Order: sequence, then C-alpha cells, then structure tokens
Amino acid sequence: MIVLGIETSCDETAAAVVDDNRTVRGAAVLSQIDDHRAYGGVVPEIAARAHVNHLDGLVARVMAEAKISFDQLDGVAATAGPGLIGGLMVGLMTAKAISAVTTAPLLAVNHLEAHALSVRLEGEVPFPYLLLLISGGHCQLVIVKQVGAYRLLGTTIDDAVGEAFDKSAKLLGLGYPGGPALEQAAAAGDPARFALPRPLLGRSARDGRRCDFSFSGLKTALRHTLAELPAAPSAEDVADLAASFQAAIGDVLCDRSRHALALYQQRHPGAARFVVAGGVAANAYLRARLDALAADHGFAMAVPAPELCTDNGVMVAWAGIERLRVGLTDALDVAAQARWPLDPDAAARRQSNQE
Ligand code: KG4
Ligand code: ZN
Repeated sequence: MIVLGIETSCDETAAAVVDDNRTVRGAAVLSQIDDHRAYGGVVPEIAARAHVNHLDGLVARVMAEAKISFDQLDGVAATAGPGLIGGLMVGLMTAKAISAVTTAPLLAVNHLEAHALSVRLEGEVPFPYLLLLISGGHCQLVIVKQVGAYRLLGTTIDDAVGEAFDKSAKLLGLGYPGGPALEQAAAAGDPARFALPRPLLGRSARDGRRCDFSFSGLKTALRHTLAELPAAPSAEDVADLAASFQAAIGDVLCDRSRHALALYQQRHPGAARFVVAGGVAANAYLRARLDALAADHGFAMAVPAPELCTDNGVMVAWAGIERLRVGLTDALDVAAQARWPLDPDAAARRQSNQE
C-alpha cells in the first residue's frame, strides 16, 4: 500500500509518500514562517494563498522522490480539519482532484488523528494507549482505542499549550515562532527565580474525573512579572523567566497527565502505554519530565521524532494508510471542517456529567 499525504491545515505546506512497510518514500515540508513573521502569528488569508502557490510543486517533488506515478497510489490522504478553512480546502481539493483522475480512494484525515497515530509509523505501539496531544492549536488527553475511536479525558479551557509558548515568547522578545526559541532561552535560566502560577493544578480532586488544562493565566502572570521588573529585562531575566514559565508548563502537564494515567489504568489495566505527540512534544525538557512521570507509574512512553511531532505530510499519509487498512475511505463530496473533534460525544457527556 502506497499513500500520498497532504497537510495544509495551518502554516506548513507539506506532502509525503509513505507505504505500509513504514517506509517514507518521499517527504517535504515548506514552512511559511517568513510570510507571517511580520504579523507575529499566522494570517489565514496569507496561509491559504501560500498553500495554493506551493502545493502542486511540493506534491510533484515528493512523487518524483518516491519514483512513482499517480496511478501507482493506493490512496490519497489530505487533512480535512480541524484548522484554517482556506488552507484545508486547498489541500482537500488537490487530493480530490488526484483521486478523481486515478482509482485511488480519497482519505479525509482529521489532523488530530494524524498526530495521534504518528507514533505507530515509527514502531509497534498497539492500541489502546493514552495520548497527550500538545500542539499550537490543541492540548488534550485522549484514550486512543483504535483507528477512528477516541475518548476525550481532558482539554484546555482557554489557550493551547503551544499558543502559550508562542505568546509568552513574544512577550519576552524571543521572536516567532516562539516554542523552540523559548526552550533555547530557558536552557540557560533559573526555573526557581520567578513564582508563576500552575493553573488548575490538583483540580481533579474537586471536580471528580476531569483532566482539563488552562494556560492563559500563566501568560498573564508572565506579563505582570515582566512589567514589575525594575529595569528593561536583561538576557538573564529573560532566561530565568523562560525557565520559570517552562517549569510551570511542565508541572501542569505532569499533574494533569498523572490524573489521566490513573483514569486510563482503571479502564485499560495491562495496557500501560503513554504517547506524547504534537509540536510541543518536540521540547526536550517536557519530554524528559513526562518520561519520568510515565516511568514512575509503570508506563512505557513513546514520542515521535521531533520532525514527526511538528506538522508534516508523513503523519497524514500514515493516518491515510491506517484508515485504508480498515476500509475508512471517503466520498469525493466530503467537506473540509474548521472544527472537527476527535471524540464527538465528549461535549454531550460533559453536559450530563457522565465522565
Ligand atoms: O503540531 P504543530 O506543528 O501545529 C499544530 O497542529 O498546532 O505545533 C506547533 C506548536 C507551536 O506553538 C510551536 O511553538 C510549538 O508547537 N513548538 C514548541 C517547540 N517546537 C514547536 N513548543 C515548545 N518547545 C518546542 N521545542
Ligand atoms: Zn499539528
């Protein structure tokens, strides 16, 4: 089985050709960082136009690298949501066109599912497993039961964790995108110098079984701390603030994950697997903290390689293979969706307190 995967949900134009022997035959990611830098964040209209300009060439490049023709594809996968609708439509329409002129079925992939399954491309990680998905748009704890079957245990009630990194990095003058820059600055800093809050820490005891996150208060506290410094922040102040911020994020992620590990273990004893994925999982400090947590609880932890954590076409092609294997193909009239939860029943369960 050979599948082409296309990713255009945010500010990376990406494509890849992957087979079911876990071989990446061709892959390319084109970052639009320079197009958006002047605005300090992703501008949806600029992103959609950039995808239009670059996607055809990128697809041609990965097909050439894989040395195959379109009629040798067994499937064409594209991210169909969630994400910025203009970009999603560019990728999905391209996949539909290729599917229409070949016999390869279309696979409309949920971007979160692509992150959730990416670890299985690198090695044997059987279902079920507990997933901590930490990216620029999401922060969720999810039980991955099988392809297409997910149970949400917790999500952020305000900012996503990558968003908190990006906004805080901006406040600290570290530039855009902020996650990697903040991690780098933090490496030289003192994480104990500033006492930043740990939102929702320990909240599970009061709320029963919820594993939610909150990060906007942390970012606000960082802004206040900066404003209270007697002089313009020195490089040392910035490093210490970055390290204090990153330590607070680590504490929150570990606390919420600890609770989810316990919940998961009640439901799936004997399947002690913990997976961390999404762009923020590229952060070495957080990987190490979460790894220690998993080990403490007798869980094996798996994290994809950093280049598979941030958005890419390989994970979309792989999710396409996983869906193709179980017959989950899509019709050519499937629509792109800006919002598309992995666990559509979660909202109703929450309302009736059935968690
Ligand atoms: O998964 P991803 O590429 O896109 C989304 O689906 O959102 O995640 C991008 C996010 C950005 O917020 C970026 O700052 C963050 O991941 N990120 C990091 C690191 N590398 C990327 N955050 C913290 N430390 C990193 N090393
Ligand atoms: Zn992503």
